[in-house]
Amino acid sequence: MAYNNLKRALIGALVISASSVAFAADKKPLLSGASASMLANTCAGCHGTNGASTGPATPSIGGISAVYFEEVMLGFKNDEIKNTIMTRIAKGYTEDEIKAMAEFYAKQPFVVAKQSFDADKAKKGAKLHDKYCEKCHADGGSSADDDSGVLLGQLIPYLHYSMVDYRAGDREMTKKMKKKVNALIKKEGDAGFDALFNFYAQGKQ
Ligand code: HEC
Ligand code: HEC
Repeated sequence: MAYNNLKRALIGALVISASSVAFAADKKPLLSGASASMLANTCAGCHGTNGASTGPATPSIGGISAVYFEEVMLGFKNDEIKNTIMTRIAKGYTEDEIKAMAEFYAKQPFVVAKQSFDADKAKKGAKLHDKYCEKCHADGGSSADDDSGVLLGQLIPYLHYSMVDYRAGDREMTKKMKKKVNALIKKEGDAGFDALFNFYAQGKQ
């Protein structure tokens, strides 16, 4: 799939910095006394200061729920989510350090990424979101309280790649999300995701 090639090219550019991060963490384990904000400094190169991503395919993680943060980090650490740069990085951290970072990031504001979008597609996407996604991604995908990640305001390339990972089985969807995603694909095809992602890129409901 074209997305996958694009993903490899983009992620490839990140690999060098990521492996040096993971390597440093392996060689010199962070003391459990390291503060969460010190730990988070390591992440800023990709996720931005306090988790406000500047791109290109990296999610914003400031303001996401601590529960979701921990779940996804442990998923990376234990190889349950495959095919990502984070599986290497997450292995450099203990569960306690992950918990501390989860709490740190949950307290930061979620910053909507600045990007262009197609207004007509966004309009259609808003309707599709209500029909297929809102049940679990509440408030137009902006709520952190539903512990399903934050979609509204994430960068389009990131949204594309995460959906590619889900559809390829590199990351497992819950049964119910899969049902909705399959229903969307059947009815709207890939254009459905395009519309949805333009809605999320709009950054507001
Ligand atoms: C080299 C770049 C890079 C570094 C450094 C990095 N990340 Fe990531 N992170 C990514 C990318 C890219 C993704 C998207 C998943 C993927 O395709 O790998 C991601 C995904 C995540 C997610 C999932 C977000 C979501 O919405 O599902 C969390 C949480 C996360 N990273 C936390 C961290 C933490 C904590 C650190 C520092 C210890 C860190 N990352 C360091 C690139 C990076
Ligand atoms: C039945 C509940 C449910 C429905 C419906 C649902 N999702 Fe999800 N979604 C989740 C949960 C729970 C997660 C958290 C991570 C996981 O389980 O993989 C998630 C995670 C995601 C992520 C990754 C978030 C991140 O920060 O990386 C994306 C992207 C996503 N969903 C898109 C969608 C889209 C688009 C729709 C509608 C077509 C949808 N979901 C419908 C429950 C749902």
